[in-house]
Amino acid sequence: MQPDSSWQPLPSEPEALDEVRAWSLLRAVARQRRAEPRRAPRLSLALGADGEAQLTSSETCCLLVDADTGEFELRRPAPGGIARLFELYLPVCLGQARPSFVFAHIGQSLDGQIATSTGESQYVTGPENIRHLHRLRALCDAVVVGASTVESDDPQLTTRLVPGENPVRVVIDPALRLSEERKLFRDAAATTLVVCGAAARRGRDRHGQAELVALDSSTHELSPAAVVEALSRRGLRALFIEGGGVTVSRFLHARALDRLHLTVSPVFLGQGRPGIVLPAIGELTSALRPSARRFSLGEDVLFDCAL
Ligand SMILES: NC(=O)c1ccc[n+]([C@@H]2O[C@H](COP(=O)([O-])OP(=O)(O)OC[C@H]3O[C@@H](n4cnc5c(N)ncnc54)[C@H](OP(=O)(O)O)[C@@H]3O)[C@@H](O)[C@H]2O)c1
Repeated sequence: MQPDSSWQPLPSEPEALDEVRAWSLLRAVARQRRAEPRRAPRLSLALGADGEAQLTSSETCCLLVDADTGEFELRRPAPGGIARLFELYLPVCLGQARPSFVFAHIGQSLDGQIATSTGESQYVTGPENIRHLHRLRALCDAVVVGASTVESDDPQLTTRLVPGENPVRVVIDPALRLSEERKLFRDAAATTLVVCGAAARRGRDRHGQAELVALDSSTHELSPAAVVEALSRRGLRALFIEGGGVTVSRFLHARALDRLHLTVSPVFLGQGRPGIVLPAIGELTSALRPSARRFSLGEDVLFDCAL
């Protein structure tokens, strides 16, 4: 059979965006906003042959973003779910341009608990949400947890499930009650800071290998705004408050959060460790009712609350 002389190869199809490429683009948006917060709001980004994303001219780009409105346009075929990744993470990436940007996450049961009565919480939510947590860690300068989370979980707080740098790890331990043997204070995975009250410091600069950040406070409870300010003085502007419920609730109550991701998993834990606990209100009109968007993460539902 003779070849058909009129046959022409199809122009090469632009490569579809998969989750890996989408994440590379999102990280590039976050890096750009952090590095040049005052640059013109319209960003165009492309992927290089190595899979790394960078700013480019708009003709060749695969992502256009308006940093003021958060609107975006994908210029590559994007299979189902990929556009939702941009919808979920772009507000966190774009927030990096602010002098201080604080976001939190809580993963809870249908009955509002984040752990069982013995403190077991690994894992209340499903694998998609755990991956989501690692992505949020990769989008912050510092991940902040309360002392009880370190006591119960002995966590590493790294980004090991996704591409991205480990953030600085911060533990709020006002009276320095945690053992210096906890992993965070011993391993070299990332810098660790311990925020404590000035009285607990007793002339020391370190807790294990972690550095102490002592805050003057007339009370055992430290003001979330003072924590944010102390970290910001160290160049840590994008803060991810990862838990537990007590710590996130204090930040929320003090109006020190810009966004809260609250993931609900279809499980009942019975009375355990509660998620968000705020002072009682009498009238429904006094309720805090943030604008919220909903996302499916496997079996779980994530509420992204703008505060
Ligand atoms: N599902 C999830 O999303 C999730 C996430 C993280 C942890 N967890 C689980 O949740 C449990 C721990 O959570 P939790 O709510 O009980 O405690 P937590 O928030 O981890 O730690 C609370 C403690 O941290 C210190 N702290 C936090 N903010 C402070 C502030 N502004 N000023 C002074 N001290 C402050 C206090 O230490 P003192 O007690 O010394 O005053 C406070 O009691 C663990 O079981 C963990 O496994 C679940």
